[in-house]
Amino acid sequence: MEIILKPDLFSFDTCKEFVDAFNPGEKDLFFTNEYIYEPYFGKMGLKVKTIFQEKYGAGEPTDVMVEAILEDASKLQYERIFAIGGGTIIDIAKVMSVTDGTKVDPLYDNMAGLKKRFELIIVPTTCGTGSEVTNISILNRTRLNTKMGLVSSEMYANTAVLVPELLNTLPFGVFATSSIDALVHAVESALSPKATPYTKLFSYNAIKMIIQGYQRMVKEGLDARQSMLKDFLIASNFAGIAFGTAGCAAVHAMSYPLGGAYHVPHGESNYAMFTGVLKNYMEIKTDGEIAVMNDYLADLLGCEAAQVYDKLEELLNAILQKKALHEYGVKEEELDAFTESVMTTQTRLMNNNFVPLDAKRVRKIYQELY
Ligand SMILES: [Fe+2]
Repeated sequence: MEIILKPDLFSFDTCKEFVDAFNPGEKDLFFTNEYIYEPYFGKMGLKVKTIFQEKYGAGEPTDVMVEAILEDASKLQYERIFAIGGGTIIDIAKVMSVTDGTKVDPLYDNMAGLKKRFELIIVPTTCGTGSEVTNISILNRTRLNTKMGLVSSEMYANTAVLVPELLNTLPFGVFATSSIDALVHAVESALSPKATPYTKLFSYNAIKMIIQGYQRMVKEGLDARQSMLKDFLIASNFAGIAFGTAGCAAVHAMSYPLGGAYHVPHGESNYAMFTGVLKNYMEIKTDGEIAVMNDYLADLLGCEAAQVYDKLEELLNAILQKKALHEYGVKEEELDAFTESVMTTQTRLMNNNFVPLDAKRVRKIYQELY
């Protein structure tokens, strides 16, 4: 597979232009947050049905939250789902689009049998997940105590729409964690054995846009991001297209036990693992794509290839301070269980590692990051 280019992709500068083009009405469900709906769509007099996700709990999606939403959605009549929000909204909407039931576990048990039941239009309001162009939904399976991906080609949106105006009110913390997530998508997909010349075109361009954006913020102040929101949204989308085909890998796999157990935002738990994983790749293999990546980063960061991970961390720390695992409350004796969880539940991701990482190596990386 060289590259999957799904779904149809549109962009509009404003919500007004988006609404004029898609004409949402009474046969449509807006699945979003009230704090997004009210300021951006509240005065348009839309006849749409709404479900506001925050009424079902804070934070990233759990099986429990999704089941409560599915229960309420099953009482409404609609044909199209407009998912307007961050990763939580998008991931839940993908699940909603392939079921008219109310339970999550049976979907994981029958991934191959999933069928799209509702047309899905995704509009991201953060610049990180790239989830608008992928076919995966990550839920915290509280009954298994980790995050797992539900994957099906039926979960691609019919349409993805980029509307940079929606990012105007994005709090800095969400900007930081989501854009770092996008950077991790770009790097992991570039190093994946499934990367192709096509996916790398998107990966490396995303890396460049994000790093240059951060460099400008360091120089001009963090508010400089407001004039670059469209660029960050596009970079996130590029990274989504890249990892949609080439996949993410160990950084994501190793971040899920931390995110699942300690409710660390996805991009932040990725950052906690990011350079630790890259340094360990380099201990095993220093040539091939990682050498290409390091040269590319060295150029962008203005340093020697040997210093890229430290320089990268220095730049990223200006956006989001990296923390050691113990600072999240992780106990050293939990690292064995984290390792076990990665090796047994995250093989989908671990198969995309630049070089294979065994349990001993994963445990070593956790120790170094502890
Ligand atoms: Fe991610």
